[in-house]
Amino acid sequence: MLLPGRASQSLAVALADATESRLGAVQTRRFPDGELLVEIPPDPGERAVIVASITSEERFLELLLLQDAAREAGVSELTTIVPYLGYARQDQAFEPGQPVSARAVCQAIGATTDRLVTIDPHEESVLDHAPTPTAAFSAADQLATPLPADLTDPLFLAPDAGAAEVATRVRDAYGTGQVDYFRKERQSDREVDIVPGEASPTDRDVVIVDDIIATGGTMTKAVEIIADRSADRIYAACVHPMLADRARTRLASAGVTNVYGTDTIERPESRVSAAPAVIPAITGNVD
Ligand code: R5P
Repeated sequence: MLLPGRASQSLAVALADATESRLGAVQTRRFPDGELLVEIPPDPGERAVIVASITSEERFLELLLLQDAAREAGVSELTTIVPYLGYARQDQAFEPGQPVSARAVCQAIGATTDRLVTIDPHEESVLDHAPTPTAAFSAADQLATPLPADLTDPLFLAPDAGAAEVATRVRDAYGTGQVDYFRKERQSDREVDIVPGEASPTDRDVVIVDDIIATGGTMTKAVEIIADRSADRIYAACVHPMLADRARTRLASAGVTNVYGTDTIERPESRVSAAPAVIPAITGNVD
């Protein structure tokens, strides 16, 4: 049985369809004191798969409660798919006194599941903190699907070296085009400086690809630089469309043609499903 978290409804439905799995009706409610309670069907079967992105502290707690409910119901094999692994970007104590949040989150999840699966984590090494087997899959291939078929001399650009692999996967899935990446210097958690690579964007259609658009600061700077250099159409694609704060208006003002992502985070911009990426991870693990 698939057990969906509140933040992963669309993806859970897509996965249930693709794997012909039962979709459990999870109920969520609050006690009068505000504490969260989840309830799963009493017959989840021997094996279950939770699908629950961590898009907030509440969704993280909901995930831990879902795992405990599954164990309480007698599930003997539990896989947890966290499509968007929130807190993974704090993968070091960047200042004295800070936690390694990614470690805290992975350890907590791993304590009561048999396998932790995620999609395009910021750094795959964060999964090493989980005390259970883990796997990371990429949904970047899916990001080629919404692109127009008639891109002119397409250039697939990553805002930093770390996203170059994601950009390459999108280019490969699209079938043609050049890949390059910006050199990036982060000034603070909201400010980054980036310098263009060698490839000229002039009179070309440009697809800027990142693993996540959070505040949009990184992507907006990339779009501004490319627009200043007379690119034609500019598309902003990401696996995780967090789009927090003023990300949409910043990107629109910078001159982006279209912004889109996958359903690891459910947004109006979630134009493609990440389901194909994780189907292989759950086939054979679901009743
Ligand atoms: C950082 O290395 C990531 O790949 C993203 O570029 C970054 O986290 C996006 O954050 P924001 O949208 O806030 O600039």
